[in-house]
Amino acid sequence: MLGRVAAAAGTPVYVYDADHVRRQFQLLQAALGTIPHRIHYSVKANSNLAVLALVRHLGAGADIVSGGELARALKAGFPPVDIVFSGVGKSEAELEAALDAGVGLINLESAGELAVVRRLGQGRGTPVAVGIRVNPDVAADTPHPYTQTGRSGMKFGVPLDQVIPLARAIAAEGDVMLRSVGMHIGSQIAAPEPYAAGAARLADLVAQLREAGIVTLTSVDVGGGLAISYGCGPGIAPSAFVAAVAPLARATGLPVLIEPGRFLVGNAGCLLTRVLYRKRSGGREFVITDAGMNDLLRPSLYQARHEIVVVAGAGGGAEGAGGAELSSGPSAAPSAPPALVDVVGPNCESGDFLGLDRQLPGAVPGALLAVLSAGAYGFGMSSQYNARPRAAEVLVDGDRFAVVRRREVVEDLMRGETTTPDWTEA
Ligand code: LLP
Repeated sequence: MLGRVAAAAGTPVYVYDADHVRRQFQLLQAALGTIPHRIHYSVKANSNLAVLALVRHLGAGADIVSGGELARALKAGFPPVDIVFSGVGKSEAELEAALDAGVGLINLESAGELAVVRRLGQGRGTPVAVGIRVNPDVAADTPHPYTQTGRSGMKFGVPLDQVIPLARAIAAEGDVMLRSVGMHIGSQIAAPEPYAAGAARLADLVAQLREAGIVTLTSVDVGGGLAISYGCGPGIAPSAFVAAVAPLARATGLPVLIEPGRFLVGNAGCLLTRVLYRKRSGGREFVITDAGMNDLLRPSLYQARHEIVVVAGAGGGAEGAGGAELSSGPSAAPSAPPALVDVVGPNCESGDFLGLDRQLPGAVPGALLAVLSAGAYGFGMSSQYNARPRAAEVLVDGDRFAVVRRREVVEDLMRGETTTPDWTEA
């Protein structure tokens, strides 16, 4: 299948497996069992419209962080009421668009934002449903500091000691209504303990709010962040995650809202790239591919490790390797262990790599490589750096596939630009 996709769509190309998304969704649903809950897919993980439509059909709502994601979610058919608007810096225009659309919940991150929402919400007839994203001051042991969000001193959420005053300010007037308190403590969290610690803080806050006479809550939001396996190291077991947050549902009697992104789509996707050249320099062996940091930024930005395998029977070196479509190439003679290679992209940056120190004996020029676990934060973080059109995206469903985003062309690179500026005197 992957060879046929690459032949039809070219490379680099992102390929997503619909069945994997369905299975992950069902795993989570099954683990949640009888706990009242709502799953809001975190759109930023993979916002391709076909993926969004797939997740919507499964019964998820959407968690968005920008006006662009709002437009995508609406286009994919999410009912506005099933959309939660999160994010630390929502502009006035974005908030207005969300209110006009009638989103179900706006998660506030500051008193300043409350003031803007209040002003924009006036005269709309019904009170605006808002939540407070709390910074619970919980450290989650994520693989990279950039993916922690729940510790004191970070830009995210409302500090614990400011939550009750903000809730009182919300309750003081009728045009906004406090419907949720929540958290999102980071991404790629493999241990349940930080969820349990954060959930306990939220349970405390709900109790304090009720003591203060604020009884309008309809959900508690535990965010996303559920880890997947990137080949080495385990993901989080959905049952362990659920065991950590279930006490919050029980203590408050409120449904739990969950915002998973990577868990649903991360291992549903891979990035297919062709080997262009090999070269040796200073004792290192390089495999140069047609995809790079502009296509998949995670290795460069977070030193994230993605497994890389040769796609068998897809041109180049690995024809017929073991019958399996994905392999690390033909086995080398026992006496000559294959050299370790750095898989690097075509961009003019030394930090442009997909994987370092890999055993990939089949990665000869023309071979097709699959960079695994690239379904989340892959295409969405890609760019046109070095004036490279962004990759195509393909959805596989059973034995069918479809291009769900055409490869960009050079005209896309220059859209909206001009060589003859239309000056304004200032
Ligand atoms: N909810 C909120 C408010 C978020 O900010 C995020 C992710 C999620 C949910 C979903 O997190 P997930 O379940 O996918 O871990 N670019 C990084 C990840 C940054 C995630 C940002 N927020 C990466 O490539 O690992």
